[in-house]
Amino acid sequence: KDTITVGLLGLGTVGTGVIEILEDHKESIQHKTGSNVIIKTVLVNDMNKPRDLKNSSAQLTDRYEDITQDPEIDVIVEVMGGIDHTLQILMEAIENGKHIVTANKDLVAQHGEKLFEASQRNRCDLFYEASVAGGVPIVRSILDGLSSDRIRKMMGIVNGTTNYILTKMSKEGVDFDSVLKEAQDLGFAEADPTADVDGLDAARKMTILSILGFSMPFNLEDVEVKGIRGLSLADIEYAELLGYSVKLIGVAENDLSGVSVSVEPTLLPSEHPLSSVNDEFNAVYVYGDAVGETMFYGPGAGKLPTATAVVSDLIAVIKSLRLGTSGSAYVQPQFPKQVKAKKD
Ligand code: NAP
Ligand code: HSE
Repeated sequence: KDTITVGLLGLGTVGTGVIEILEDHKESIQHKTGSNVIIKTVLVNDMNKPRDLKNSSAQLTDRYEDITQDPEIDVIVEVMGGIDHTLQILMEAIENGKHIVTANKDLVAQHGEKLFEASQRNRCDLFYEASVAGGVPIVRSILDGLSSDRIRKMMGIVNGTTNYILTKMSKEGVDFDSVLKEAQDLGFAEADPTADVDGLDAARKMTILSILGFSMPFNLEDVEVKGIRGLSLADIEYAELLGYSVKLIGVAENDLSGVSVSVEPTLLPSEHPLSSVNDEFNAVYVYGDAVGETMFYGPGAGKLPTATAVVSDLIAVIKSLRLGTSGSAYVQPQFPKQVKAKKD
């Protein structure tokens, strides 16, 4: 199609970034895809908030049906967050033949299987690169770049907010509450930052990585999670005096006894490569039988890095529409039912 029509769900930190990138990179996107991308309708909560839609002629709505039921809309970009209501909206959209791009790790970690099943049945694309590690293309790398290998372990920093907090506490001696407020103002934190601080956001991302990397089922509830609430400036200072830094580390392992996933504050020797991953940056080590050690690093949260991943997914949808391969990319991992998650 020469024109691809998009419905955008959400116009907060990431949604405004999507509009900005589509506007600023218009010519290069048209050159790469052969299509002109138009955002037709944008779903928001509060119709009275002042908005910057750049030069876009998009219409605002607070009725999701204006997007899911609009026959002109080809692709829905979901950057509003939420779980149950958002699942219902996306399932309805997929049943109506819409391709989906989402940044919503809460939804993918909890209901990925339902979304995969519906999108494959309806030959719709479903891309979710921004759901793990913001602007770092880790999902694509695991599903495509390392698809020939057997991945054994993934380990790293996958939450930008807590890494930003720990960095500022360590380098500037700022207390937890004021630096959390800073991370919220910068657009890194979730609408409810409890998910960041208590490790749930990282647990969701490690669950997604685990399912994709090991091609096995894994339930979010089986992640052992501990967040950074309760860590004091004194804890961080003592660790540093002893030659360690404190980082919130996610680990997913697949050994002979099964899969285990954990997220917890961890003491790392200061010379460890993950010790120098600061601010909102993320880094993930991936160990494969054949490839050995690889590491992926970059901005894990924030408007433009996250929107880069979202718009790249949108470009992938347009390319598969052009090739007539919609619904076949990122095929759902085959879940061998006999494999159980490891429990202590
Ligand atoms: P945000 O700034 O809070 O924006 C959310 C947007 O969605 C707002 O425009 C809001 O409308 C709208 N919205 C929320 N619930 C709605 C509902 N029920 N009906 C209609 N509109 C609704 O959030 P964000 O930081 O952009 O994050 C969006 C998604 O991306 C989340 O799933 C998040 O986990 C994910 N993500 C975020 C980042 C990041 O760095 N921020 C990175 C990776 C992934 P109003 O404007 O009217 O309030
Ligand atoms: N709140 C998340 C974080 C956004 O801080 O990592 C990116 O997923």
